[in-house]
Amino acid sequence: MKFFADTADTAAIQDLEDSGLLDGVTTNPSIIAKSGANFLERIAEIAKICKGPVSAEVAATDFDTMMKEADKLAAIADNIVVKLPLTEDGLKVCKKLSDKNVMTNVTLCFSAGQALLAAKAGATYISPFVGRLDDISHDGLQLIEDIVTIYDNYGFETEVLVASVRHPMHIIDAAKIGADVMTCPPSVIKQLYKHPLTDKGLAAFVDDWAKTGQSIL
Ligand code: E4P
Repeated sequence: MKFFADTADTAAIQDLEDSGLLDGVTTNPSIIAKSGANFLERIAEIAKICKGPVSAEVAATDFDTMMKEADKLAAIADNIVVKLPLTEDGLKVCKKLSDKNVMTNVTLCFSAGQALLAAKAGATYISPFVGRLDDISHDGLQLIEDIVTIYDNYGFETEVLVASVRHPMHIIDAAKIGADVMTCPPSVIKQLYKHPLTDKGLAAFVDDWAKTGQSIL
């Protein structure tokens, strides 16, 4: 499973990049607004830090303006993925970009039918939002299972990018289903390292090693 960081925080992205475990980055207009950064400059910075795909979202909602924005975003760096909303116009843009071999990430997917349309439009990634579905008492992970099954049935190459991931169990369950990618805040990736028995066991090993009075170096 590929790990994408859902953030525009360059320090956090650099930290994850240094771990060797980061496969890509996703952003959205809310994340950019929260960062207070200049969008185009920040995306260019992120695309330099992270060698993997970096999703940058269009701001317009009509076909003509989204096409212009997409061309501008794609020109920033070779690893830019143009993020598009799952609307009729968004998928029209997706098809045009896919025909030009520009990577796309279709976002705000909340149903299997929408995911089917995105795959037919040639999306590189489809982003179903599990957390936001859970928030309204729908089963976000069931949607992931449905999309993975449908894409496998027809051999669609669109990768399932599990988005709106809120906690480690979302990641584990999505991995069990076989989703290609997940994106989440860096803090959630950090939670994966944690287990109380690891901390307890390590503390005991450190104490017992000290009792030996030895040094490896
Ligand atoms: C990713 O592409 C999405 O923009 C993001 O995961 C949404 O997460 P949220 O529902 O926690 O805002």
